Amino acid sequence: MGSGIAQVAAQSGHLVVMYDVEQRFVDRGLATIRKNLDRGVEKGRMSAADREVCLDRVSTSPQWRDYDVAIAIEAATEQLAVKSEIFKQLDRHTPPSAILASNTSSISLTTLGAATQRPEQTIGMHFMNPVPVMKLVEIIKGLATSAQTYQFVHDLAVNMGKTPVLVHDFPGFVSNRVLLPMINEAIYALFEGIGTIESIDTVMKLGMNHPMGPFELADFIGLDTCLSIMEVLHEGFSDSKYRPCPLLKQYVAAGWLGKKTGRGFYTYAD
Ligand code: CAA
Repeated sequence: MGSGIAQVAAQSGHLVVMYDVEQRFVDRGLATIRKNLDRGVEKGRMSAADREVCLDRVSTSPQWRDYDVAIAIEAATEQLAVKSEIFKQLDRHTPPSAILASNTSSISLTTLGAATQRPEQTIGMHFMNPVPVMKLVEIIKGLATSAQTYQFVHDLAVNMGKTPVLVHDFPGFVSNRVLLPMINEAIYALFEGIGTIESIDTVMKLGMNHPMGPFELADFIGLDTCLSIMEVLHEGFSDSKYRPCPLLKQYVAAGWLGKKTGRGFYTYAD
């Protein structure tokens, strides 16, 4: 999702630095941005010259250095330890005035803020996948997040062509509090033999007009991310209604993580 966020920011006129732990990951992100912009040129939505201007706004950085930025948006793997460490690094490597935002799907912004010296400038900026297409940005205020930080992020989301919605910092926020139990329930329906992957997806696509069935969507999100979110809900509310389905745990244990690994509930050729 990081490359999608970088793409939309660059298309909105912002200078962007993409950081990742290895050069090959930032290269892959850049290649995705180029592919998406190429498609925009092919479809006549942008000129080739505008594509180059947009690409020139994106630079990459495979290791930590000092960044003179107004905002850093973290979009790492959905694990508290990983995100907390990144927030500590961002605290060191960005100006004291910079806002530190997370694209987290479910992790507490209050907790991430506490890992920094600037909890009032820490906020959730939760984009939806695929970022260039989906209109929503869920903005999550941690307990200490200031009104100025919220206003900045709200205005940035609007500037990026998105519709921001403010929610408060409780497990799963709104998007994943509602979405993930639905996906988990679909996995239980499969686990209990009530339907097949295809039949359950068809029910939700044709019956509820969902663009993707729950299994297609789970594979698209990543089964490891789905499991992490269910664990955050389960632990955060101490309520058994959020227990992750054992089948989801088994798929993750097998490394069948969805589209990104070529196999999840479906298999993917490329
Ligand atoms: N990156 C950029 N653009 C993409 C894309 C991607 N990964 N995937 C599709 N698109 C673009 C296509 O280029 C196409 O644009 P044009 O019409 O301008 O060419 C447009 O989206 C439609 O794509 P397709 O015609 O190929 O396919 P589609 O009509 O089936 O739409 C979809 C694809 C938009 C992904 C649609 O299936 C959909 O809306 N799915 C549901 C997505 C969803 O629920 N996202 C939220 C996931 S939850 C989340 O992100 C948060 C979390 O915390 C877990």
